[in-house]
Amino acid sequence: MEPRNEDYIKARIRTVPDWPQPGVQFRDITPLLQDPKTFRVLVDTFVHRYMDQKLDVVAGVDARGFILGAVVAYELNLGFVPIRKKGKLPFATVAEEYELEYGSATVEIHCDACHAGDRVLLIDDLVATGGTMIAAAKLLTRIGATVVEAAAIVDLPELGGSKLVIEQGIPLYTICDFA
Ligand code: PRP
Ligand code: ADE
Ligand code: MG
Repeated sequence: MEPRNEDYIKARIRTVPDWPQPGVQFRDITPLLQDPKTFRVLVDTFVHRYMDQKLDVVAGVDARGFILGAVVAYELNLGFVPIRKKGKLPFATVAEEYELEYGSATVEIHCDACHAGDRVLLIDDLVATGGTMIAAAKLLTRIGATVVEAAAIVDLPELGGSKLVIEQGIPLYTICDFA
């Protein structure tokens, strides 16, 4: 019997212990990208979920969310909006600062990246503390869009981020988790 897409994908995520610092189990998605069959299963899992959702645009978060988000947008025949780390977007932006484990970071979006009322799929690779996904969703809301769902490959539920995302009223889909 063929494994479920979710199991097939999870089995191909590489865990790198103690990177980038001791105690962190880094969930590395690059093996999903480099094998053509796995990349297709991954992209198709998102495409099948969203193909009938009447979306207007896909937004992806710098940097790993770009890899997936742009391809999913293309397959859904939609445009792609980059949400970038501070200082990278050339036109007028809105910004959201959020807390990391140590310190803070800022993400930005062009103020004209969406039309008012646009139904947006927000994509990143992974939810850890949830700070990135929540900040990205706030940016989209601030420029007048509606986040239909936030989506990622991986949830790390022990870090509590997915719970926070949902508590913020942002629907969340993740393909697999590492508890
Ligand atoms: C990583 C990951 C998510 C984020 C999740 O991005 O790609 O975007 O952390 O963490 P959080 O839920 O605690 O916010 P990071 O900015 O570290 O690196 P990247 O530029 O490679 O995407
Ligand atoms: N981003 C934040 N925490 C991470 C982890 N454990 N693995 C991969 N990316 C991450
Ligand atoms: Mg990232």
